[in-house]
Amino acid sequence: SRLDNLYRQVILDHSSHPHHHGSLEKSNQRIELNNPTCGDVIHLELNMEDDIIQDIAFSGHGCSISTASASMMTEAVLGKTLAEAMALSENFSQLVQGNDVPELDKLGDAAMLGGVAKFPARIKCATLAWKALEKALDNPEMGIGESGFMKHEED
Ligand code: FES
Ligand code: FES
Repeated sequence: SRLDNLYRQVILDHSSHPHHHGSLEKSNQRIELNNPTCGDVIHLELNMEDDIIQDIAFSGHGCSISTASASMMTEAVLGKTLAEAMALSENFSQLVQGNDVPELDKLGDAAMLGGVAKFPARIKCATLAWKALEKALDNPEMGIGESGFMKHEED
C-alpha cells in the first residue's frame, strides 16, 4: 500500500542518513549494547543536565532497522526529561510488540516502526537503541570516566 511505501521510505531515509550519528564532545553517559543474536553493537552517548537529555549521539554497526531505529530514537528523546524519555521507551516497546500505545505521535518517526511487530525476528533490531537508552537512564548518577563505554549485552 501507499502507506507501507511511505513507512519504508522514511525508514530507509533514517538508515542511510541517520540523525545524531557520531559522538559528542561532551557526554556524561556512555553505553555500549550488543545484540548477541547477530553481534551488532550500538554506542550511545548522552549529555544529561538538569534531568534533561541535552544532547545525544550514537554510532556502532547494525542492520538498517537498528540504525533507523537509533536515529528515530535520538530524534524522539532529545530535549526530553528522563521520565519522558522512559515513558517513550516503554511506549515504543509496546508498539513493536503489536500493542496499542497512548500518544503515538510523541514517538515521531519511531511510530513508523510498528510494522516490525509482524516480524518477531526484527523486534530486537528495533529495540536495541531504546534498550541502550534505558540502560543509560537507569544509571543517571553513574558518572562514567572520560573514555570508554559501559558495556552491556542485550538479554
Ligand atoms: Fe537533530 Fe533532527 S537531526 S533534531
Ligand atoms: Fe543485528 Fe538487526 S540484525 S541489530
